[in-house]
Amino acid sequence: MKRIYIFTGKGGVGKSSVASAHALKSAGEGKKTLLVSTDMAHNLGDIFEKRLGKEATWVRPNLYVCEIDPEYVMEQDFSAVMDYLAGLFFEPGAGAGGLGMIPGMEDLFSLLKIADIYRNEDYERIIVDCAPTGETLSLLKFPELLSWYMEKFFPMGKVAVRVLAPVSKAAFQVEMPNKTAMNEIEKIFLKLIRLQELLKDRAVCSVKIVTMPEKMVVEETKRNYMYLNLYNFNVDGIYINRMLPKDLKNDFFAQWLALQEKYAACIRESFGNLPIYEIPWYEEELKGEKAIQRIVEDVLDGAEVFEEKIITGRECFEKTEHGYRLDLFLPGARKEDIDLFQASTDLVVRMGNFKRNIPLPNVLRNFVATGARFEEETLRIQFEKGEGAYEPGADIQA
Ligand SMILES: Nc1ncnc2c1ncn2[C@@H]1O[C@H](COP(=O)(O)OP(=O)(O)O)[C@@H](O)[C@H]1O
Ligand SMILES: [Mg+2]
Repeated sequence: MKRIYIFTGKGGVGKSSVASAHALKSAGEGKKTLLVSTDMAHNLGDIFEKRLGKEATWVRPNLYVCEIDPEYVMEQDFSAVMDYLAGLFFEPGAGAGGLGMIPGMEDLFSLLKIADIYRNEDYERIIVDCAPTGETLSLLKFPELLSWYMEKFFPMGKVAVRVLAPVSKAAFQVEMPNKTAMNEIEKIFLKLIRLQELLKDRAVCSVKIVTMPEKMVVEETKRNYMYLNLYNFNVDGIYINRMLPKDLKNDFFAQWLALQEKYAACIRESFGNLPIYEIPWYEEELKGEKAIQRIVEDVLDGAEVFEEKIITGRECFEKTEHGYRLDLFLPGARKEDIDLFQASTDLVVRMGNFKRNIPLPNVLRNFVATGARFEEETLRIQFEKGEGAYEPGADIQA
């Protein structure tokens, strides 16, 4: 079974190092492995001390490495759309280079490329070294991004794709794309929808979060995890990088050690249901395969990091006395930040800037959300037969 592993986390926490270590281990197990970076600040070339091209480069038996250039992907695979977009958003002649301006666009193209590789090539494991969390929003905010593009591309609401929000027709007075661009845009939408399905499929994709025992990083990690859960991605591993050696006999570091222990404990508390791996802080920069191999030996050897794991406490529907209950695992969320309402066949959960539409299964067609509770980090939403949908903005009962 082929599998994709996505490494995410704040900038500089060690995503590339940890992803590379997994790639080395995987290749060492005799699995044909592709390590691919979608971070525009690529550094796999530095780590493997090789000049990497736009296509996958062989670096050792069973291991290929590739740094995706989203602009190259756009131009190669979606040139008509690019021309259309360039004309729509930028001065004539600006070309595809200006596309970095469109939120999440580059990441989306990189991920589309990875989905293609997954389907068309024979790698057994694809290890993705992602852009820093903030820039990986496309992964999280998929549905919103899709509707954002939809509004731009289909001002007349030409295509009614179920996952997309209804398009406000009057608001957009943009030039319709020509036929070729239109076909390509449709193709992209279908691909995006399939990409989303692929990346949320637990049998296909694992998301792994790299973090460090530091206040700001831990907070961001918790947020990241919460949103990944909100969108139902399969997070199945946490890596705490840069743990100082415990036996440092040094006053200066004694305080840092105590702080690190505090934040590591906080991580263990917040991610108790996941496998947690601790990576030592090495006395050298992790450059070259030998340096990366240290992580493999110290942390990954003997650990089952590639297996599909059953992580409990996720999204599930359950039959109850009066109807059904939907449980959403939202670790680290606060009750007062959650907003909930039902819109025809979807349940909409909003937290801060994030919103998720959860399509309700057919059995719930004649049911409405009648109340919700937030307990044990889980939002439990009750559905009962009849009318009187849960009102937007109404408080959630604790
Ligand atoms: N455990 C570690 N010990 C020592 N240096 C590390 C460790 N993890 C990462 N580094 C170094 O920190 C820098 C950032 O790591 P990198 O893996 O590139 O992070 P990211 O991909 O998240 O930006 C690199 O110079 C790397 O060699
Ligand atoms: Mg990196």
